[in-house]
Order: sequence, then C-alpha cells, then structure tokens
Amino acid sequence: PIAKSIKIRDSTAHRDTRVKVSGWIHRLRVQAHMIFIVLRDGTGYLQCILEGDLIKTLDALQFIEETTITIYGTIKTLPEGKTAPGGHELTADYYTVVGKAPSGDAAIGNIVAPDAEQQIKLDQRHLVLRGEQASGVLKVRAGVLRAFRRAFEDLGLLEVTPPCMVQTQVEGGSTLFEFNYYGEKAYLTQSSQLYLETCLPALGDVFCVQESFRAERSVTRRHLSEYTHIEGELAFISFDDLLSHLEELISRVLDYVLEDPSCKDIIKELNPDFKVPERPFMRMKYEDAIKWLNEHDIKTDEGKDHEFGDDIAEAAERRMTDMINRPIFLTHFPVEIKSFYMKRDESDKRVTESVDVLMPGVGEIVGGSMRMDDLTELMGGYAREGIDPAPYYWFTDQRKYGTCPHGGYGLGLERYLAWLCNRWTVRECCLYPRYVGRCTP
Ligand code: 4AD
Ligand code: MG
Repeated sequence: PIAKSIKIRDSTAHRDTRVKVSGWIHRLRVQAHMIFIVLRDGTGYLQCILEGDLIKTLDALQFIEETTITIYGTIKTLPEGKTAPGGHELTADYYTVVGKAPSGDAAIGNIVAPDAEQQIKLDQRHLVLRGEQASGVLKVRAGVLRAFRRAFEDLGLLEVTPPCMVQTQVEGGSTLFEFNYYGEKAYLTQSSQLYLETCLPALGDVFCVQESFRAERSVTRRHLSEYTHIEGELAFISFDDLLSHLEELISRVLDYVLEDPSCKDIIKELNPDFKVPERPFMRMKYEDAIKWLNEHDIKTDEGKDHEFGDDIAEAAERRMTDMINRPIFLTHFPVEIKSFYMKRDESDKRVTESVDVLMPGVGEIVGGSMRMDDLTELMGGYAREGIDPAPYYWFTDQRKYGTCPHGGYGLGLERYLAWLCNRWTVRECCLYPRYVGRCTP
C-alpha cells in the first residue's frame, strides 16, 4: 500500500497503517539480526525496528547517529511489558538514506553529554540543540511564549512591536550598545518601556515581546547581551493593581504551560521537584530585605553589612531568595538606585513605587514600577540622572497631552525559563546565547 508521509507527533493516529517517516537517527543499537533506531524529527521520537531481509542487504556502516533517513513501515502498538516513546514502534519494510553523518568519533554524543566542556558545548551549540535537554528547553520556551500571549489576551493587553534601533536610554548609559545609524549616534534598545507608555492613549494597555540588548561587562549566569524581554504597560492603575496584575500574569502563564501537552512532560523531566508557587506571593519591602540580609549575616560583595541605599548584589539576592524558597515581590527601592522615570512613594519620598520579582534559583526575573506622570517631576528625574531631555521629547509629551497614572514591567524570558526548567544558566534558555566574548554561532 501507498505510505502516507507523517510527522512523529502524529504517530498514534496512524497505528496499524503503512507510513513514511523522515528524520535523524537519534539513537542506534545494532544486533546480529535486528537494528533498533530511535528516529527524531523535531516533533518527537519514534522507535523503528529493521530486521530480516531488510538488513541482509544493508550497509550497516551507513547507520550512524545523526544520519538522515526515510523509513517506510507499519506503526504497531507495543505488547505488554515493552516500552518505547508513544507506546508504539515502527516495523520497517523499506528505507532510504538521505544524508550521512560523519562516523568514528561519536561527536554529537560527546558534545551533548552533560559533562562536556562548557565552551565546546557553546561552540557546537548547533549540534547540541539536537540533544533531548537542549531541544526540550526550546520546546518549553515556545510553549511559554504561547502562554504569555494567551494570558495577555485574557487580561486585555494588546501586542505591539516597538523598534530595536533607538536614540534614548532606559536603564542607564553604561550598558548601551552604540552604533552608527547613517552617521548619527544610535543604540540597540535596552527596554521598550518608553514606547509602550506612548501607546497607552492610543491603544489602551499594551505588551510586547521584543529583544533587548545590554552591554553587560561581567560574566554571570543570568546576564545575556541580547535577551527576549516581555514587557507590559497599564493605564489608570495603582501600585497595588500592578502587583496583583503581575501575580495573575505569572500564575496564568504557569497554569497554561503546565497543562500544555507539548511542555508538561519535558518540564517534569527537566525539573522534577517543581511546585506551583502558593498565592498570594510574598511581598517584602526593600528596607525589610536589608534588615533580613543583615539578620542572616549575608554580606555585600565587599564583605560588609547591608545599608539602606545599597544595590542588593546578585549573590546576596539569590541567597535570600533561595533561603525563603518562594517567589518574592521585593518593593519600594530607594530613588538613587533606580531609573529616572520611577514614581516616588507619596508616603515615603526616599523610595519609589517599584518591584522586582525574585524566583528561587535565579533571583530577579521581573523589574517594574509606577511611572512619573507629572511633567515637573520627570524633568527632575532627567536632571538627577544627568540625561539630556531633548531626545526624549516624545516621551515627555505624554505628560503634556493628557497624563495618567500608569505603570508596567519587564520580564526576562530566559530567566523565567531558567526558573521553570531548573537550568543553571540563562545561556541554556535561548537558541544562540550572546554574552561578553561570544557572538557565535
Ligand atoms: O530590571 P530591568 O532592567 O527593567 C527594565 O528594563 C524596565 N524598563 C522594564 C519595564 O518596566 N518595562 O529589566 C527587566 C528584566 C529583568 O528583571 C531581567 O529579568 C531581565 O529583564 N534582564 C536580563 N535578562 C538577561 N540578561 C540581561 N542582561 C538582563 N537584564 C535584564
Ligand atoms: Mg532590574
């Protein structure tokens, strides 16, 4: 009978029929009278059995891991007691080799091995991606993006696509990537926040999924030079509304991903101990965090006690989050350590209406705040940070043409994934990571 060409994800629907499946040899076991292949096509894994006449004529040397092959045969339900992906296997009656892979050094196997040298794995990322863990994280990443878009739809935010090439900063001049834009100075965007703010009067609440760029000089396990930034902006809200919205968003996304058939088993495999965080999330003021750190003898990077006004360093923040071991909304950071646009707290002018969401294993995954909606205050913000207001005229105009109370946030997708998939570093949570010293492949 004619064989229908199928993708592995659809195998179950094609049991007991003759099919044609194309893919890469993921695993291989050669015995005297039988060859077992686990075939991979990106949508799943399928065990295939070649035996009898089929292997009499076969040049066994063609069978090497990563060789591309088209196999014809019948998908059969496995008998009781045998296991294979999907609970079935393909009994082959014909095959053709499409593209051979190099033999000998089992290169891929070594690279994919968990203990392979980090730099080798990163140089060979295009091959590492073929492994179960690396491709698993990327499948969850796709599911998380789907879930965010679905949750934003639920919560009434409209998607926009702001520019990546800009002439303004958002999060400080020291991490800007500068480039020559037809002879003018321009930067790669650090955050689309300012653009989202301009959308509120036109489109209502908005979000974007956009690359952000930071020239971070230090190599850490949670900093990339290019990362996927999920940002939202909401009009006519209070700081409390902002926190509730964030908790709802994070929880909805989690619900959707954990019920997604293309993600849930992978997450179980990558992060067997993952527990859905209890609501409401813990809320802690910056000032209380400083006290907490000192009470638990967690020092600054310089080995000193923490003082009000210190930027809480990555190491201390991570230790605190790991010890508390649940999501924390850390709020009310001092004005001096935050960006020019953040609104002050009316009841304590030393601090801002700001929040970082901290997750165990990673630390900060979200930064957000209420924005200065008063023109005079914003001019003061520029002055405090030594920013020339001229290129920001369009942002400033929002305060002249019908201002409103508003706030928003940015979430680092790779950090969210590092938390959800229990990855050591955000470098494993994107396709091709960029950080100091690496822009290849
Ligand atoms: O805290 P950040 O700098 O906040 C902003 O950019 C705001 N303007 C966002 C907004 O309000 N619309 O960055 C937000 C998040 C961080 O919490 C972190 O998860 C991620 O972006 N992030 C990075 N992720 C990977 N590598 C880096 N170098 C990152 N810098 C920030
Ligand atoms: Mg931040």
